Amino acid sequence: MLLLYGGGSAERSGILDRVRASLEEQQIESVPFGGIVPNPRLSTVRRAIDAGRQAGVDFLMAVGGGSVIDSAKAVGYGLATGEDVWPFFEKKREPGASLPIGVVLTIAASGSETSNSAVITNEEGLLKRGLRNDLSRPRFALLNPELTMTLPWYQTACGCVDIAMHAIERYFTRESPAEVRDSMNLALVRAVIRNSRLLKLHPDDYNARAEIMWAGSLAHNDLFGDRHTGDWACHQMEHELSGMFDVAHGAGLAALWGSWARYVYKDDLPRFASFAVGVFDAFTDFTDLETTALAGIHAMEDWLRSMEMPTRVSDLDIGLTDDRIELLADKCTFGGQRTIGQVRELGRKEIADIYRMAR
Ligand code: NZQ
Ligand code: ZN
Repeated sequence: MLLLYGGGSAERSGILDRVRASLEEQQIESVPFGGIVPNPRLSTVRRAIDAGRQAGVDFLMAVGGGSVIDSAKAVGYGLATGEDVWPFFEKKREPGASLPIGVVLTIAASGSETSNSAVITNEEGLLKRGLRNDLSRPRFALLNPELTMTLPWYQTACGCVDIAMHAIERYFTRESPAEVRDSMNLALVRAVIRNSRLLKLHPDDYNARAEIMWAGSLAHNDLFGDRHTGDWACHQMEHELSGMFDVAHGAGLAALWGSWARYVYKDDLPRFASFAVGVFDAFTDFTDLETTALAGIHAMEDWLRSMEMPTRVSDLDIGLTDDRIELLADKCTFGGQRTIGQVRELGRKEIADIYRMAR
């Protein structure tokens, strides 16, 4: 098997040695492939495919977070199909096969350990693109909350934001209200916020780590709402931001969410108001849904700030000039070929407006 890992944390924490020892005990041969960076690169994926092909591997084990798991998924497509993988991410071709993947999760965040998607950045043009296909959903994922205790606070916070956002994106939908789906998503966001606050005080709180880890895997495995029915505009806009400026995905989401929310909330006041009440216990004024909706947006940003997360792009030390905004909006619409979002359909102009609000 090919044993994929990141930039050093898995070695430092000792988890890599533990995995290798346990594989050796079972007489399973493994070929290590380290050095996968956050916002994982296509060139690294291609090198891992070469390494896997030379070794003749038939299984992929990812020890790490979303970046390592997503790389394993891309490598799996490449090894099983024998084709270059980028056209799959460009949606020019569908992958017909993948290798099986196992995961030892070291950061609760992306939900890639249970999701069917992978997100890879092509250094040529700094294009970060996602690919969804059930072939790549991991066969198993080992979730041990203790492994996340070595995370720096920033990564813990980014992870909590990403997990909450996966539920929030599913909650903001144009589908007719569905009580079970909606309540599950709101409850998950509440639980993430509550446990993130506990972790801020006590980073070694096992139960809080466990709640966050479990929430991460549930939030993105499609039980809480199909990917096609959520809003996902913040995710699409964030992928352009982290593709171009290499920021942590959770931090990018935090920097954009408030501006997105203020731009679109009037298109679905009841849903924004019930988000405010359902997550933050906002006072409900049935004669003035707008005030309730805005209270929820404020409360969400207060939580992000309390987590030391950005609420504007400038907090990430990125200067969004008008030219950069136009480029981001152009990339996000695939050169004007698509719109994003459900609460409001967003084209190039609207996306640029939101980046401008968030800068
Ligand atoms: O590289 P190492 O040294 O391992 O350090 C990592 C990395 O710097 C560190 N880290 C991980 N576990 C650690 C640790 N440090 C100390 N102790 C540990 N136990 O954390 C940093 C971030 O790792 P990364 O894997 O990049 O984090 P995350 O899980 O947030 O993944 C982010 C990537 O996933 C994509 C994002 O766009 C981004 O590229 N996403 C994937 C999704 C999917 N496949 O379903 C959905 C998401 O919406 C997201 O787009
Ligand atoms: Zn995400």
